[in-house]
Amino acid sequence: MNIADLIPEYRSEINNGLADIYPRGPISLTKPVAYVLNGGGKRLRPLLTIFSAEACGGTKSSVFSAALAVEVLHNFTLVHDDIMDQDSIRHGQETVHNKWDDGVAILTGDAMLSLALRLLNETPVESHLQMKIFIDGLLAVCEGQALDKEFENQSSVSLDDYIKMIDLKTGYLIGLAAELGAVSTGMDSGICEKVRDYGRLIGRAFQIQDDYLEIFSNSLNMGKSLESDIVLGKKTFLMIQALEKDTDIINSALELARNNFEKGIGNIRLYLENEGIKKRAQEEINNILKLADNKLNDLPIDKEKLLYFSKIIKKRGN
Ligand code: IPE
Ligand code: IPE
Ligand code: MG
Ligand code: MG
Repeated sequence: MNIADLIPEYRSEINNGLADIYPRGPISLTKPVAYVLNGGGKRLRPLLTIFSAEACGGTKSSVFSAALAVEVLHNFTLVHDDIMDQDSIRHGQETVHNKWDDGVAILTGDAMLSLALRLLNETPVESHLQMKIFIDGLLAVCEGQALDKEFENQSSVSLDDYIKMIDLKTGYLIGLAAELGAVSTGMDSGICEKVRDYGRLIGRAFQIQDDYLEIFSNSLNMGKSLESDIVLGKKTFLMIQALEKDTDIINSALELARNNFEKGIGNIRLYLENEGIKKRAQEEINNILKLADNKLNDLPIDKEKLLYFSKIIKKRGN
């Protein structure tokens, strides 16, 4: 079967695996957990875990619970992220803290972290090492999220600091998704590290692309509310460069966007286009994806599925 046909099949297996992982418990917890896990999403991280295992000669079944664990972990971070970013829509439906309240969303996230750890604990292979990788990745996400919030209140942030922040909040989690797949096959640590680095770079490109799409796409296509980056003054790849070029123009466009989103974002889009920042972001995403693929050069693994994964990421914006 070709890879393009395999993806919907794997996705539906992942969705089935997630559908009923917490059937019994207080209804105020089981309901929002099921709401999140049945709420959709592209399932990119568990797909990567499975692809990476298969690339290294392993099987889907031996890595499946770890793949589910990664997706539950990811969704836990989204539930808490939506509280932190005060977002109202995720996966085309109301965010948990909006539908219920902050308390429910905090506890839902906590329960999901426990469920993720429970799933990972069921992994049949290399369980100690997988747990270590998972826990390190979890702390990295927290650190990245902390920096993301700190940067909101800083008038300028360097691109280097921005890259460090997105590697932590997004890259490490996608890196760990790839690494768990490789590790599950008992591959040499040098090879597992390269596969991990491939995932981290994919994550870096993915986050810059997400920053880009938050400005140039729309809420319907993205399935999430997009105003928060502007309202909270997030330091994204594009806004850092725009602020560096002309702080006054950008600050007044941001101010306008807070009162009239469409008008303000229209001005920001125009500025980013005219100043070549939009184009530079697209080039940067493609360059990082190339760097990611290069990490796989000379590795004695079957790279086809991992290289296809980079293509899926590239296509997301189109
Ligand atoms: C969203 O990730 C959070 C970011 C890292 C930008 P995804 O786009 O992969 O989330 P899903 O597919 O909606 O779950
Ligand atoms: C993505 O954060 C990273 C995590 C959720 C840890 P963002 O805040 O940039 O992503 P979206 O735009 O809400 O999906
Ligand atoms: Mg955030
Ligand atoms: Mg967010």
